[in-house]
Amino acid sequence: MAVKSSTSRRKLLLGGLALGAIGGATMLRPKDQGAAHNDYFQRLSGALDRAQLAQPTLVVDQQALLHNIKNLNEHIGSDYHYRVVAKSLPSLPLLKTVMQGAQTQRLMMFHQPFLNQVAAELPDSDLLMGKPMPVQAAEKFYQAFKVDSGFDSTRQLQWLIDTPERLQQYQQLAQQLDVSLQMSIELDVGLHRGGVSSDEQLYSMLTLIEEDPNLNLSGFMGYEPHVAKLPGDKLAARDKAMAIYSQRLSAAEEICGRDLRGLTLNAAGSPTYRYYCGENRQSSFPHNELAAGSCLVKPLNFDLPSLVDHRPASFIASPVLKALDSTQLPGDFGVGKLMGLWNPNRRRTFFGYGGYWKAKPHSPVGLSYNPLFGRSTNQEMYNGSNSVPLQPDDWMFLRPTQSEFVFLQFGDIAVFDSEKSEIVDFWPVFSAT
Ligand SMILES: Cc1ncc(COP(=O)(O)O)c(C=O)c1O
Repeated sequence: MAVKSSTSRRKLLLGGLALGAIGGATMLRPKDQGAAHNDYFQRLSGALDRAQLAQPTLVVDQQALLHNIKNLNEHIGSDYHYRVVAKSLPSLPLLKTVMQGAQTQRLMMFHQPFLNQVAAELPDSDLLMGKPMPVQAAEKFYQAFKVDSGFDSTRQLQWLIDTPERLQQYQQLAQQLDVSLQMSIELDVGLHRGGVSSDEQLYSMLTLIEEDPNLNLSGFMGYEPHVAKLPGDKLAARDKAMAIYSQRLSAAEEICGRDLRGLTLNAAGSPTYRYYCGENRQSSFPHNELAAGSCLVKPLNFDLPSLVDHRPASFIASPVLKALDSTQLPGDFGVGKLMGLWNPNRRRTFFGYGGYWKAKPHSPVGLSYNPLFGRSTNQEMYNGSNSVPLQPDDWMFLRPTQSEFVFLQFGDIAVFDSEKSEIVDFWPVFSAT
């Protein structure tokens, strides 16, 4: 009798465990996340078709871009000058749209060929280099630069200098070319990506500039994106960075023996510009201009609390080449099918035109890369559920994670007017050479 009851107890226990396991597995099992394109992406698909596009295309939404520019204008107001980060918006018509919308001529440049294109095509611009360039790159700029373009490099271009050694190289270049150069000094305000990190360094650089008639001190730059990334209180991290900036600026004023507050004093980027605006502004901040670029097209990496009121304005559109109702993997041992049995979002398979961009699938929702098939720049594989109704020649959309490199990979940008639901323009991107 005792034996019998312990057996049925064990059975009961095992049954309970099995039910629990099934219940747990059911709870863990992914839900169908697929759906068709929403109205926006259906309209964008129609617009791309009517524009007879049939290759991977970078799309910028005109209204979302204008919204972001307006938003940035409202935040910055008249408290600072605004400098457009050109590498994050690497197209002349795109830059012109932003410069006009934000009423600024100030651009931050990062690449010699782009610098020459901007100096030639935007002769009224005011250019600050965002990174210290090898002196050979600076020399190349002057070789390719057309003096009669209307752009006065002695007034409108500031080279960024990070060390006394680089400064000496630029000093020699100025002598050799017999040009005067504007020097902006990079400060390390906590990012530790280089720049001046001691008053001794500052002293040797400033004395060299002050003594050389070919060199003019034009400003300082202290970039601090780490402020948005460090755990903890962002405003405290901002204050720490700005305290370093202020200290170096005061030291520089002492060395030069004059007020330097009227020079170009640059700081910030998309993730941090809001930390200086509106109620976050403090009169003790040393800088007088803010730089930002990416937030105007808002790639995925800029989905940050500080940028909630900016709208995604850039998408990659990729034609669907193949749409399969199952998932099969090479040398199939049924793994593809098993993946689909467990996860409904792996039941269908799509191959897109191009791929392996710095981007994530965005529409239709529920698309993902297959972790076993691998990535492809030629025909990327995506999985989705039976609720994803994509067919060959439809469009799928991805959101770039960043803009500076991705925007250069597709040829002309297709400009989408989301009110008219049409592609209304094509914007060439910078040429990389
Ligand atoms: C010096 C400097 N300033 C500002 C930025 C900010 O650019 P974005 O606003 O596109 O993030 C960058 C980006 O790398 C930078 O290097």
